[in-house]
Amino acid sequence: MSADPPSDPKVRYLRAKESVDDRALHRPTLDRVREAATTGNSLRVFEAGPGAGAMLRRLLRWNLPADVTYVGVDADARMVAAFRDRLPALAREAGYALAADDPIRLSDGSHTVEVTVERGDALGRARGTDADLLVAAAFLDLFDAETALSMLLDGVRPGGLAYFPITFDGETTFLPPGPHEETVIDAYHATMDAPGRSGGSRSGRALLSAVGESAATLVTGGGSDWLVDAQYSDDEAYLCRHLVDLIERAVTRAESEDEPSAAQVPDAVAREWAADRHQAVESGELTLLTHQIDALVRAPPEA
Ligand SMILES: C[S@@+](CC[C@H](N)C(=O)[O-])C[C@H]1O[C@@H](n2cnc3c(N)ncnc32)[C@H](O)[C@@H]1O
Repeated sequence: MSADPPSDPKVRYLRAKESVDDRALHRPTLDRVREAATTGNSLRVFEAGPGAGAMLRRLLRWNLPADVTYVGVDADARMVAAFRDRLPALAREAGYALAADDPIRLSDGSHTVEVTVERGDALGRARGTDADLLVAAAFLDLFDAETALSMLLDGVRPGGLAYFPITFDGETTFLPPGPHEETVIDAYHATMDAPGRSGGSRSGRALLSAVGESAATLVTGGGSDWLVDAQYSDDEAYLCRHLVDLIERAVTRAESEDEPSAAQVPDAVAREWAADRHQAVESGELTLLTHQIDALVRAPPEA
């Protein structure tokens, strides 16, 4: 990341996790995506929840077809602004220049990438997009997998591909374990599964089941687990701290609800856990492990 990290904590977190995701992405799946994306004369990409533009950064480094359109739809205006602000740097770093503003066109002389980044609900917006490649990275744990899969596949042309990398799947481990580790982590996962919240802590396997139940087919997939060990970069230390804060907030928020859920953890317990985890980051002793699944899915051919 640049010398000046983004001031917005969520944007900074997403930028910090990019290099961890780069390391974690399941290589055989990524290779299949690259092969499909770089074969042919043109490519239409739709991305649901692109955040700060991590996936476009990866795509621009490939030998893309001459004519590419990319549409990213994120529900959070801060993300849309961060992504748009970053576009000139993303283009430059990949050897492209900004050739036009409205619509935004990036060009390296022989390839043109038309980029649209807009605010909206990607599940609704996907319909009819007719994308060759739909991407939803670190996204599906926010939704019921079956519903989201069906809505997103509506945006893929018959026989086109949908790529779902970094889909969280039920494991968050900090080593060495701190005080109340199991209580806090179990409660954190339970907050994701709370009634009334869509999505869940085992979205990776829910996605695989949903694909099995659908008319689409799984092309390939595999684990994209994070392992962040004690040799932290500044970004990785930030990522660990952000995750600790997020978990502390999640498990204590559950306690303050009128109807306490199974997720509740007393404030003092969560505080002690978080303080210990921050200390372990500070002293370079904390290791973070999480389990995610990448899946590449082919939309059914035209009926
Ligand atoms: C965990 S972030 C992942 C961001 C990015 N894909 C990445 O891997 O860095 C999830 C993103 O989905 C966005 N999001 C959540 N619900 C959405 C929706 N219904 N439509 C579009 N974006 C959504 C969030 O604003 C956020 O940017």
